[in-house]
Amino acid sequence: MLELTSPWLLLLLVGAFWLLARVLAWTYTFYNNCRRLQCFPQPPKLNWFFAQLYMVPPTEQGLRKSTQLAANYSHGYMIWFGPITPMIVFCHPDMLRSIINASAAIAPKDVIFYGFLKPWLGDGLLLSAGDKWSRHHRMLTPAFHFNILKPYMKIFTKSTKWERLVTQGHTRLDMFEHVSLMTLDSLQKCVFSFDSNCQDEYIGTILELSALVANRNQQIFLHMDFLYFLTPDGRRFHRACRLVHDFTDAVIQERHRTLPKENIDDFLKAKVKTKTLDFIDVLLLTKDEDGKGLSDEDICAEADTFMFEGHDTTASSLSWILYNLAKHPEYQECCRQEVQELLRDRESKEIEWDDLTQLPFLTMCIKESLRLHPSVTGISRCCTKDIVLPDGRVIPKGVICLISIFGTHHNPSVWPDPEVMNPRRRSPLAFIPFSAGPSPDSFHWNCIGQTFALTEMKVVLALSLLRFRFLPDKEEPRRKPELILRAESGLWLQVEPLRAGPQ
Ligand code: HEM
Repeated sequence: MLELTSPWLLLLLVGAFWLLARVLAWTYTFYNNCRRLQCFPQPPKLNWFFAQLYMVPPTEQGLRKSTQLAANYSHGYMIWFGPITPMIVFCHPDMLRSIINASAAIAPKDVIFYGFLKPWLGDGLLLSAGDKWSRHHRMLTPAFHFNILKPYMKIFTKSTKWERLVTQGHTRLDMFEHVSLMTLDSLQKCVFSFDSNCQDEYIGTILELSALVANRNQQIFLHMDFLYFLTPDGRRFHRACRLVHDFTDAVIQERHRTLPKENIDDFLKAKVKTKTLDFIDVLLLTKDEDGKGLSDEDICAEADTFMFEGHDTTASSLSWILYNLAKHPEYQECCRQEVQELLRDRESKEIEWDDLTQLPFLTMCIKESLRLHPSVTGISRCCTKDIVLPDGRVIPKGVICLISIFGTHHNPSVWPDPEVMNPRRRSPLAFIPFSAGPSPDSFHWNCIGQTFALTEMKVVLALSLLRFRFLPDKEEPRRKPELILRAESGLWLQVEPLRAGPQ
């Protein structure tokens, strides 16, 4: 028998008290939060357990529901993601600015949903937080300076690959497939100084990973790692991560092989001077203010993050832009005339860096398409302290906030007739495809690759419109938000070559 003074008994008692205290604290916070969240309107629940979990599935129907919710609750609403996880959804610029403007320490990315990506993207910029994020952000930002981006124009120019397909007689193309191959190819050449020929497999695996993550999101029991990785889907996820990591490893090893082993500082200085400091060089060679470089693990995480973020988002945006212009031949023709006018007296039909500002209508069409079809439909944050909204309501500390980029872009109180494409409309504060407007200085979390992406989109679009006409396919695509906004069975368009010379 255990004596009353036995250390084991004491330990057991302390453990039991600690557990009880935790349960009581959690219950108190839970009920307190429930009370404080009552100021946020709530759409009807499906039932008490699943609540609103299945209300917005990652399908066409889900996106329509999202639009309807933004119309009904224009200043945001709350939902229960299962019985114990509340989430506030923001779809109005006045409200979401409070979170998006908060510092990275106050509004870090939420660990539940972003956590699902951890085995794949590691602690790269997208998923890391705190000092690590700031340090890496400082180190990697120079690789996206416009002086570095300028020479990439040539690579973008050469990458419009459907030319070959169309001349081979394919007039009906799944733009998503071909554009993804193109954006991955150009990303590898520009950012990783690498030329590969096994991209199909990589892209197929990214599609699989995206579908698996979207599926897991919807199944609360599988949110726990130890359960998920016991299921066939969990094992598929692990296998797919391995494949993706092998692909990125090959890119890193190849660059390692060609980099000088000595006089690295001189090599870097020369690169900075000639403005050819590639992202991969920054990743492998640069050191922070304390002379510390990145560890092997950090290098892999950043490479995986950029490989995914850098091609899939741009592919989605470009595919939807081509779709929107196919649906609106009048805008397509205006863009084409703008490009023809710009290049009229030039022998070489190439877009130069200074031309990028000379395509105002084309730029407006890109932006309007990013509004209608944002490739990232939502991002989430979990605040480390209470945040007061402009209307006085308070977001309690620890509650997940979903910034619905799609909902904001389709909120009729900001964008009248939100489903209509109108390139001339403007509402900069409610336009957040890259997470927080165009000014990188004033916000903390926006996309490091946005200038790269916009440049590539302008070049590829301008040159494609010069050579081809895009027409809608017979069947309307059904949208599918799986990490990135995709289309259910591909995004098919008819592509017609244009005769040379002015049309
Ligand atoms: C049209 C194309 C693109 C769109 C719509 C887009 C959108 C976004 C959004 C919404 C975020 C914020 C994610 C969050 O806060 O949770 C983000 C972050 C990020 N994007 Fe992009 N992106 C695009 C292209 C690119 C490209 C081309 C690259 C790299 C070459 C890139 C690299 C990144 C990285 C590394 C982050 C994490 C940044 C950080 O948290 O510091 N993106 N992007």
